[in-house]
Amino acid sequence: MEDNRRNFPSISPAAVVVAAVFLLVSALGTYWFTTFVPLVLPAQASAESKSVDELFTILVIIGGVVFFLIQGMLLISVLFFRARGEERNDGPTYHGNPLLEIVWTIIPAMVVVFLAVISFNVWTQNSEPKAAVNHVNGEEIAIEVSGARYAWTHTYATGRLSPDGVPIVINSGDTLHTYIGQNVELILQTQDVIHSYWVPAMRVKQDLLPGNPATGGRPTEIRFTPVRVEGELYPATYPIVCAELCGDGHGRMRGTVVVHENESQFLEAFYEPAIYAILNPPADPVLRGEIEIQRYICNSCHTLDSLEWSSRTGPSLNGIADRAGERVAGQSAEEYIALSIWNSGAFRVPGYNEQMAAFGPDVMESANIMSPEQLYAIVAYLCTQGEQSDCDQENASSAIPEAIETVFGMQVDINFGQGDAAADSADEAGGESE
Ligand code: CUA
Repeated sequence: MEDNRRNFPSISPAAVVVAAVFLLVSALGTYWFTTFVPLVLPAQASAESKSVDELFTILVIIGGVVFFLIQGMLLISVLFFRARGEERNDGPTYHGNPLLEIVWTIIPAMVVVFLAVISFNVWTQNSEPKAAVNHVNGEEIAIEVSGARYAWTHTYATGRLSPDGVPIVINSGDTLHTYIGQNVELILQTQDVIHSYWVPAMRVKQDLLPGNPATGGRPTEIRFTPVRVEGELYPATYPIVCAELCGDGHGRMRGTVVVHENESQFLEAFYEPAIYAILNPPADPVLRGEIEIQRYICNSCHTLDSLEWSSRTGPSLNGIADRAGERVAGQSAEEYIALSIWNSGAFRVPGYNEQMAAFGPDVMESANIMSPEQLYAIVAYLCTQGEQSDCDQENASSAIPEAIETVFGMQVDINFGQGDAAADSADEAGGESE
């Protein structure tokens, strides 16, 4: 067999010129291409977004040059080194150009190191702890985010106490409220599997990591500072998305960031009314229960037409009061509903998995903590969901506490809700609750 190995031919000046022109054209072409980057990405709504977008642009330019260079070489090879005429044999095998081999090893290595350094730089800058986080009324508060299949829950530990000495914690469900210039720092914790908290407009994304089931996972943090976006009307809203496949409801695990224009708008439109509503719950347990049930993530799994819930992971709550009395022999409707909420494993509706989290005063997950009084109100509300309720609605104020005492042995202090009715408008609340 013929040895067709040859030494690598010397590179002609013409080839160098072609390569140089090609490199230039691909660099210019990619640079032009990056002018479209801002059109593709969402508004830069945080102080962090600029550096992330710059990094992205650099990556697009380098990736683009490499892409066009390789495709160009491929094209040149196909054109110039194709089989001509009757040629059917393999072409010559070239070997032995140490200089070329060194160059094409060192340049990519340098590019990779360069990218690693600038990426690490952006990452450390953006994830660095900041001074004065979550500033509200001159104080730092803790904001926690809980992820569970398939909903986000945001809780604000206000640092204030109710008249009975209970810490006031605002639960704003799937919505994060913040304001321009607030150094947001969120503590993220999952209740089940891995999720990822992603706010594209803020250019931040962080996984929620499962850990020890008894302690509810390993907390992670996410930090960003909202900035003013030109032409935006405030309060502005931006989507929160789950970026880690977590089950069949992954696609609807979404939330909203509401950016208020300044701290006073944040206080007036969200913070103070929320505290006011906690301190002044409606006296009617059913009305209170309707508010309470919406503090939890029930909507992520259940259908309930009265509240426009439409999820199908769990059994429907439509008409639950009509069925609750017949589920378990010897168990009243009130007992069944209370038990199903606090101890979700007690009874499983046929056809559904045991997926529901437990809610009760001693669960580990702060977003799931539900006092006996909250349970009372929620049971009272669910007892109204049906045509001819199995609950003893005439004597609800004694039947429900008795049911809770029977199944959990806990006393319910039903003397809550002596405050103003829920009808009080939120605007009015802003100034009064201080
Ligand atoms: Cu949570 Cu995907």
